[in-house]
Amino acid sequence: MSGIDVHFWPDDKKISVRSGTTLLDAGRKAKVHIRTRCGGKAACLMCKVKVNDSSSKGLAPMNVNERLKLGSQAEEGYRLACQARVIGPVQVTIPEDPLKAAIRAQLARQAEEDDLF
Ligand code: FES
Repeated sequence: MSGIDVHFWPDDKKISVRSGTTLLDAGRKAKVHIRTRCGGKAACLMCKVKVNDSSSKGLAPMNVNERLKLGSQAEEGYRLACQARVIGPVQVTIPEDPLKAAIRAQLARQAEEDDLF
């Protein structure tokens, strides 16, 4: 039986999984880090990932709990990796860790200031 391709960005890692696998489990299998604190119970919202319109067809529709947790972000292409189940090929973007993004932005500002002097 052939699997379904799940492609993770920005790591550019691809894995083949069985239909019904969650993106969180696919990420673990691909050795892609998806943050989680609740262990996949749709409670922490740390596992948010983004899929584009064409890729969203590769995931089963959101359950009520996922839709409620995501709110308006559901319309922006976000999914909870622990709830979204693979049913077809899908491209998944893992957002940058907010702390890392803040540190990177601060370092960029410092570099600009250093260039001024
Ligand atoms: S792992 Fe906590 S909400 Fe998905």
